Amino acid sequence: MMTNLRKCAFLLISLAAVGPIMAQQSTPAQQPKPPEGSKPMAIKGAPKDPTELKIDQLIKKMTLAEKVDMIHASSSFTSGGIPRLGIPELTMSDGPHGVRLEHGRGWDETLVHVFDSATYFPTGVCLAATWNPQLGYQQGSALGSESNARGKDVQLGPGINIIRTPLNGRNFEYMSEDPYLVSRMVVGEIKGMQSQGISACVKHYLANNQEIGRSHIDVEMSERALREIYLPGFKAAITEGGANTIMGAYNKFRGQFCTENAYLIDTILKKEWGFKGIVISDWGAVHNTMEALENGTDLEMGTDLSMLPNPDYHKFFLGDTVMTLVRDGAVSEALVDDKVRRILRIMFKTHMMDHSRAKGAFDTKAHQMVARKVAEEGIVLLKNTQNLLPLNNNVRRIAVIGANADRPNAQGGGSSQVRSLYEVTPLQGLKNANSNVEITYAQGYTIARGAQADKALIAQAAQAAAQADVAIIVGGWTHGYDYAVWKDNAYDAEDVDKPDMNMPFGQDELIKAVVKANPKTIVVLMGGGPIDMTQWENTVPSILQAWYPGLEGGTALANILYGKVNPSGKLPMSFPVKLEDVPAHKLGEYPGDDTTVRYNDGIYVGYRYYDTYKVAPLFPFGYGLSYTTFGYSNLSVTPAGPGKVTVRFTVRNTGTRPGAEVAQVYVHEAKCSVDRPEKELKSFEKVYLEPGASKTITLTLNKDAFQYYSEAKRQWVMEPGRFDFLVGSSSRDIRLTGNLEL
Ligand code: BGC
Repeated sequence: MMTNLRKCAFLLISLAAVGPIMAQQSTPAQQPKPPEGSKPMAIKGAPKDPTELKIDQLIKKMTLAEKVDMIHASSSFTSGGIPRLGIPELTMSDGPHGVRLEHGRGWDETLVHVFDSATYFPTGVCLAATWNPQLGYQQGSALGSESNARGKDVQLGPGINIIRTPLNGRNFEYMSEDPYLVSRMVVGEIKGMQSQGISACVKHYLANNQEIGRSHIDVEMSERALREIYLPGFKAAITEGGANTIMGAYNKFRGQFCTENAYLIDTILKKEWGFKGIVISDWGAVHNTMEALENGTDLEMGTDLSMLPNPDYHKFFLGDTVMTLVRDGAVSEALVDDKVRRILRIMFKTHMMDHSRAKGAFDTKAHQMVARKVAEEGIVLLKNTQNLLPLNNNVRRIAVIGANADRPNAQGGGSSQVRSLYEVTPLQGLKNANSNVEITYAQGYTIARGAQADKALIAQAAQAAAQADVAIIVGGWTHGYDYAVWKDNAYDAEDVDKPDMNMPFGQDELIKAVVKANPKTIVVLMGGGPIDMTQWENTVPSILQAWYPGLEGGTALANILYGKVNPSGKLPMSFPVKLEDVPAHKLGEYPGDDTTVRYNDGIYVGYRYYDTYKVAPLFPFGYGLSYTTFGYSNLSVTPAGPGKVTVRFTVRNTGTRPGAEVAQVYVHEAKCSVDRPEKELKSFEKVYLEPGASKTITLTLNKDAFQYYSEAKRQWVMEPGRFDFLVGSSSRDIRLTGNLEL
């Protein structure tokens, strides 16, 4: 059996992509032409800003070798510093949901730090399910504080790739199928993280929407899909969130690796959006020195496992080869200077140069409570017939069933894994919640590769259910917590996609047997996204989606089940009935042919497809139940200046419990010269209301809400006409409609 120490090393090694061994030059791939209307950033004379002047001075003092040292890794998670000039190394750490376990500069040091810990927050998809950007800020801020306290300068997250297929093994780390929801949540999270003085690193730019073939697959998509679906989250992260750094993805985009992609990085990110920070490669994602130099990679990271025990990071693509190229006059030193300048700019901005950054804190009660709050607002109540929930005082005996109930399963697998100080499992959470209730536990299924329904375990579970007032099955996906076999039972993990949407380990049979034994059965699903429920959904009265809810997840879940907390999470992605309903799968455009994947689904991702093409999902985008009810009234839609519209309506808590509602505003253009989706989310607000209380919500939509990206004109276009405004509780529960000629 592997020791814990070996397991750690295994994880680190398996998750850090092997870095390049030899730098080389190859013919740069054909560059896509920049769109008309993209404005190249004017390069003017010496910058006037005092920090830029200090940077000028520093750069003047550097030798070429020192500059080059700064633009590639100096260990697995640091870039090179220049002690002579007081320039520190940039220290980085995964990831989006907590500070990854400490392992020092090299793999051996992993062994020294195995007992450390940090707060494990709910994963990105759970955060997005809160639809609460303020909570995004709080989680970001707590995470930034932990990162700071752990001596990190850059926290490698948030991850925001669009959820295009339910099979992507990293969906749990990401946020949504909808670019507007991603944008709102990511801006909050980044601002929170960076409020603590460190840098966020938004990733993976771009189109890393599947793990299969991630190191080489070439993504082809239309310019309209790029602009309307895949770019907006990143644009918001940079232009509104002010992210200091961004990570280039492993995959290719239109024939060129993303990390060194001229169109994505140089044209769009740096010139159109005016990004002044650092483009960091994903680990080992650089493939070509010239492309990286010229197209905008600023810092090459990776883990040179090939050279253990004495890694030589100078052999990276942005290492010695750069020195040779500059000395030979093949590339201008100014290209290197620009990268060094960007790194220094962020160092000054984050007080690395004067060491004046305020200290953070980690493993604090306050951070744990943020994690709990996010889980409480992110867990989604999918079904609740027969008023089985919240559990009432008549419930005296509960059978808790399922391997996921009694194991640490509150995080996804891969580089985002954190060594959590503790984890409240669902079983523990339920035990802690009410000591007057008798709880029996039955495992129900075994987590192991290819494990089928286990008749004996199912019989035990059914018996426990029959003897209880209520049965709670906690199942769903797993993430491969056990490092030694992580790929064997990993469904939500880096470097793997799920094979299909079917419940693994014979859980369908288990659920059917338990419901038969006790119809009062609640199913709690863990995981980064939907699972096929067709075999039992209509027979189970209550279903919850608990995602990977962080170290306080078990407490949050119990609070919801017992009604201490009224659920308010809403799905950030559609849950299709079956995999074949998903556009990418229906078209056969996943996972591609191992060379190329064509996003022929275009802009019709998620509900944009289901609603336009009239395919009913099992649970729609934006959907989630509450223990109370909400009424909508008094919609008014009025012009508010050029290209702007004010949408005003009232939401009232019409039930008997306090609760929160996410009121959603979708827009549809009735007639347009190009196809437009049936509806698109353009605004939302989460409101907390006491029973009987109401609130008038006023939301102002600007021109972005009405435009589409015209491929013919290569620009955003607003076509005059009638726009419908659909206000409701989910994408398929529209309560009020209005329209306006614009
Ligand atoms: C992942 C990144 C991660 C990096 C460093 C890569 O394999 O794709 O998300 O930040 O490793 O661990």
